[in-house]
Amino acid sequence: MAYEWDSSLETGHEKIDNQHKQLIAALNNIVSASAEGKGKEEIFKTVEFLTGYTVMHFSTEEKLQVQYDYPDYLVHKRYHDEFKITVGELTGRLVREGPTEEMIGIVTNAIGEWLLNHIKGDDFRMAAFVKAKGGN
Ligand SMILES: [Fe+2]
Ligand SMILES: [Fe+2]
Repeated sequence: MAYEWDSSLETGHEKIDNQHKQLIAALNNIVSASAEGKGKEEIFKTVEFLTGYTVMHFSTEEKLQVQYDYPDYLVHKRYHDEFKITVGELTGRLVREGPTEEMIGIVTNAIGEWLLNHIKGDDFRMAAFVKAKGGN
């Protein structure tokens, strides 16, 4: 397994944590589809699932932030928006160059690294704020 969820990624907000677990599972599904030599279409399906799930997850977090008047909402949303563009660029490259194991490695590493950093920083702060306001 390329990425593992552990307690260092636990924000303490159940819904967000569950979605983060799904994101990591989706990332691992791309890596294993590639490592198992699955066909292009199946690999692209796993990539599409991750990108769709990412958009859904960001929207969940943004709604919570609006609901609880999170002061850093606009900054947090900007990080999400920028990352969605980055993911679009990376998957575009994957389509153009084909899902070789090397390209899969480049794309999943870039996405994985961003996600883990974002979870441990921005998401932790946001989850702590929402929880302090009694949100779940
Ligand atoms: Fe998140
Ligand atoms: Fe976030």
